[in-house]
Amino acid sequence: MADEEDCAPTVQNLLDQTSLQWIFVGGKGGVGKTTTTCSIGVLLSQVRRKVLIVSTDPAHNLSDAFCQKFTHEPTLVEGFSNLYCMEIEPASMTSEASVDSLGLGEESAMQSMFKELGGAMPGIDEAMSFTEIMKSVQKMDYDVICFDTAPTGHTLRLLRFPTTLQTAFEKLMELKNKYGGMLNQAAAMMGQNGQGMENALLSKLEETQRVIGEVNKTFRNPDKTTFVCVCIPEFLSVYETERLVQELTKYEIDVHNIVVNQVLFAEPDACRKLLARKRMQDKYLDQIHDLYEDFNVTVMPMRDNEVRGGEALKAFSQYLINPYRPDKTVDGVASSPQVVKFLAEKFDLDKDKVFSALDEQGLTVPRLD
Ligand SMILES: Nc1ncnc2c1ncn2[C@@H]1O[C@H](COP(=O)(O)OP(=O)(O)OP(=O)(O)O)[C@@H](O)[C@H]1O
Ligand SMILES: [Mg+2]
Repeated sequence: MADEEDCAPTVQNLLDQTSLQWIFVGGKGGVGKTTTTCSIGVLLSQVRRKVLIVSTDPAHNLSDAFCQKFTHEPTLVEGFSNLYCMEIEPASMTSEASVDSLGLGEESAMQSMFKELGGAMPGIDEAMSFTEIMKSVQKMDYDVICFDTAPTGHTLRLLRFPTTLQTAFEKLMELKNKYGGMLNQAAAMMGQNGQGMENALLSKLEETQRVIGEVNKTFRNPDKTTFVCVCIPEFLSVYETERLVQELTKYEIDVHNIVVNQVLFAEPDACRKLLARKRMQDKYLDQIHDLYEDFNVTVMPMRDNEVRGGEALKAFSQYLINPYRPDKTVDGVASSPQVVKFLAEKFDLDKDKVFSALDEQGLTVPRLD
């Protein structure tokens, strides 16, 4: 697997791997998926010819992140010459739309049969609408496409395509037997050929299966596709990340980047509460480093403000390639744990005793080591 050099604590590997076409960014709700996707997009726009960021999240996150209204058509991001964003309307992801995309025309016996099929197999609907998106995006002229996935994990369901489809086909055959006679009769009454309709539906499904097969092949090609997991250093998020990594591995999808976001540092202006929280985070950071020692684990600092707008994203994205180092002082003031550490080392004092003595005086200073 990856050697030491490959495990740099940055996402530089994504910029260097010029064969990459699809970068999926996923993780638990609210951890910073959209911010990370946009930041990766910003970095890629500096090294690749034309970059597209796509979101299928109903919450219009990309518009919020860049402070610019995007639509279902790719739109150039202000301040960039080669970075585009596109937000797929949730309406186009509904079952109605994907049933329509089969091109079966008005409500027909076949269509209601398909609806039943879709109802019985929720995955197939999503699979088909996602395939439509993939197909249309693939036709566009982008070097690389970054996907901001919804927290509910469209992407994970996507990975189950082959199984879903196979079950769907089995279901279809069952329905065919159940409705076959009725359909032929209904079609004959309307002067249509029932067998013809059935064939039309089957060939449409086969065509979809073929496209999904292609998409699956691309997904499983680590030269073309990779998945970036975003998490925060807290129990639930680490737990969900591990589940995600396991699932991706099961479906043979490449994953070797973990972005740990909203990380606290012992900066001079950090208060006791924040430092206590930092200690909690440190525990999970250690776990993340242990669990993913052959991954690229990139640590992103918690900023004082939200990361919004092109300029803020550009600044934030720098930490994805140049690890964040907190200053020793803020406005010339050093943090108390750093002062204790410095004095203990300088005057050869027992650090623990200094901390305890301060504690007794009600001058608690968090231990940071
Ligand atoms: N490191 C950070 N420092 C400060 N604010 C951050 C940081 N990362 C993200 N944020 C802010 O936190 C909020 C949530 O981030 P973001 O929208 O990227 O999360 P998400 O995982 O996409 O959420 P959702 O699951 O709702 O789509 C945003 O307002 C964003 O600006
Ligand atoms: Mg989001």
